[in-house]
Amino acid sequence: MAENRMDKIISLCKRRGFVFPGSEIYGGLANSWDYGPLGHLLKQNIKNAWWKFFVQNRDDMVPLDTAIIMNPKVWEASGHLASFSDALVECKSCHQRFRADHLLLAESLKPEHEKAPPPQTVAEARCPECGGELTAPKSFNLMFKTFIGSTEDAAAVAYLRPETAAGMFVNFKNIQTVTRRRLPFGIAQIGKNFRNEITPGNFIFRTREFEIAEFEYFINPENWEQTFERWLHEIKRWWQEVMQINLDHLVWREIPDGERAHYSQRTVDIEYQYPFGVKELHGIAYRTDFDLLRHEQYSGTDLHYTDPDTGERFIPHVIEPTFGIDRMLLVALLEAYHEEEAPTATEGESETRVVMKFPKILAPLQVAVLPLSKKEELAAVGKPLAAALRQKFRVDYDETQSIGRRYRRQDEIGTPYCVTVDFDSLEDKKVTVRDRDTMKQERVAIAEVSAYLTAQFGL
Ligand code: GAP
Repeated sequence: MAENRMDKIISLCKRRGFVFPGSEIYGGLANSWDYGPLGHLLKQNIKNAWWKFFVQNRDDMVPLDTAIIMNPKVWEASGHLASFSDALVECKSCHQRFRADHLLLAESLKPEHEKAPPPQTVAEARCPECGGELTAPKSFNLMFKTFIGSTEDAAAVAYLRPETAAGMFVNFKNIQTVTRRRLPFGIAQIGKNFRNEITPGNFIFRTREFEIAEFEYFINPENWEQTFERWLHEIKRWWQEVMQINLDHLVWREIPDGERAHYSQRTVDIEYQYPFGVKELHGIAYRTDFDLLRHEQYSGTDLHYTDPDTGERFIPHVIEPTFGIDRMLLVALLEAYHEEEAPTATEGESETRVVMKFPKILAPLQVAVLPLSKKEELAAVGKPLAAALRQKFRVDYDETQSIGRRYRRQDEIGTPYCVTVDFDSLEDKKVTVRDRDTMKQERVAIAEVSAYLTAQFGL
């Protein structure tokens, strides 16, 4: 049933233009996805809402947009070159590679009747594809390597960034100097990242190219606990008020000692109940002064901060809330998907409608203007109305097919309001506004439609 829900969403995404398989006309590229017109809009709306909530609405945030290819020394300092890796095993028969930790887990997840006695160690595990013998685990770095310039030698090696955070750390001094910010303040950015994941999958959940929205919040370490709690509270508000998800679908997992990255003194993973299991959605970590200290050591640049009031000189500590944009989009799709019974045009009959109940602010399209038929006199009202609404809203104009089918299509792509122009509109200068969720219809004067919708969207 849960898998079925995922399949339905993937199929809807393709059919309606949210997400297409990447490079499809060439047979695709495994686990790569392209965002179609509606997917692009949804993603943009999530990014804009995130930016407004965490950056624009606050007075303690500074925006940034840094390069994807950085000086490779950045990745030495950050620890990515030495330790951003997964332990892999290879099957000696079929030569497929698997993450060692996933192998142990995979066996425990099998249905009872298929379960072999679970391996206690990787050495006991067999290939999940062919049952062959496996090699000992070997470390595999997840960064994508490339070369700068025309020579492909060791001196020209560079990497596509695996996270946006490093861009914020290496610019801390620049930003502090030009903005004259006092602690605490944050540096935020949204951007693409690249990781050569061994086990991508589950649609857009784990891919090799994805976007992160995150900020590094620089603090004096005194009272870091309170600052951490405040950010946890803001994160909860984000999921409740902006993304409007059912909070029962989230799991707030305190990462215990021994499981955290070595530099983190506290990490909370915010997990979500996906149809394929409870897995990470995003996280928040107290990274101490690890990053700036390392970049100071490796670059030789002084990254200390002097408190203008107390004269105290120290390396700022960092609290980092980090969000995967693609995972947020997946969650927005999962939360929005509803199947419900709705009446048809025939009295007493009903059918199942699929409706994407996105929060209104996130819906890819906000308003659809639908003349009842293709008649010119209706277009003469509908087209100028759509053009006027387009100045303020994301508007679709559609005059093909029956009105019932057009409502279903708009429901399926989550458009909160349909505005229907009919023959009465020519006389009474009113249109019918239909609400996506309640399906209630209201007559509104054409001259008032923009103000009516503005109020509905709370703009
Ligand atoms: N600077 C911290 C950092 O990068 P991370 O947990 O490695 O932390 C941040 O990544 C977020 O990016 C994750 O919480 C998740 O939402 C998303 N993410 C990580 N790997 C991903 C992948 N392969 N595909 C899609 N999203 C991913």
